[in-house]
Amino acid sequence: MSLEFEGKVSLVTGAARGIGRAIALKLSSLGAKVAVNDVSKETASSVVNTITSQGGEAIAVEADVRDSEAVKAMVQEVTDRWGKIDILVNNAGINRDTLLLRMSDEAWDDVIDTNLRGTYTCTKFALRSMMRQRWGRIISIASIAGIIGNVGQTNYAASKAGIIAFTKSIAREVGSLNITANALAPGFILTDMTEKLPQERKDLILSMISLQRFGKPEEVAELVAFLASDRASYITGQVIGIDGGI
Ligand code: NAI
Repeated sequence: MSLEFEGKVSLVTGAARGIGRAIALKLSSLGAKVAVNDVSKETASSVVNTITSQGGEAIAVEADVRDSEAVKAMVQEVTDRWGKIDILVNNAGINRDTLLLRMSDEAWDDVIDTNLRGTYTCTKFALRSMMRQRWGRIISIASIAGIIGNVGQTNYAASKAGIIAFTKSIAREVGSLNITANALAPGFILTDMTEKLPQERKDLILSMISLQRFGKPEEVAELVAFLASDRASYITGQVIGIDGGI
């Protein structure tokens, strides 16, 4: 039996751990070749090793998504190796939370550059291959914070709202080429990013979740796999919440 993503090439940014790692493993388990991006080749390589030990095909591609030259070289590396990119998952993201009056320009720029500029740059360079083949999937990890906002996250929420608007616009630009672009708006998912939150904040968030538990990276990866598949061929320009009902 052939796997759903047999012959497909994917690039997942920030895939050394957390949600990105789960996405890389999921796409690989469905037959996709996976380029595992992160800032350090070493950490990305451990995900590659896991994939190859399970019989999948993957490479580690080091690049800081804030750096357009590095992203350009990374996309070139993937297309040199596998000839194309079918699925791009813009997952790399950071938060530097603080109240606005205490926010430094550096914290503002760092978050906007990583989350929003990184999404723009990776999409721009990966798009060429998708346009040539008239098939593509762009899936970007936004956040519920980009929809409803959050205290201490003006920079993060603005970057994620930017990703949502970017997604809706690019979906319109490339829809005629059979390329879809969608964003996910996860709520609270158990990863290193959320681990560092104070316990009282976690308790408060938990009390607002209908399913009364935090989400798992694998649950986000399921949705990404669906959106990347032909089963989601008529879904584009959407923001899909995955938050346990907040
Ligand atoms: P994480 O902090 O566990 O992992 C993020 C990964 O991105 C790390 O491997 C990190 O090295 C990489 N990364 C950071 N800056 C990078 C850069 N400049 N270039 C390349 N890679 C870079 O975070 P997590 O929780 O797995 O988050 C993944 C995405 O999901 C992020 O975009 C985050 O904003 C988003 N998200 C997470 C939620 C959560 O509750 N954990 C909720 C909503 C959205």
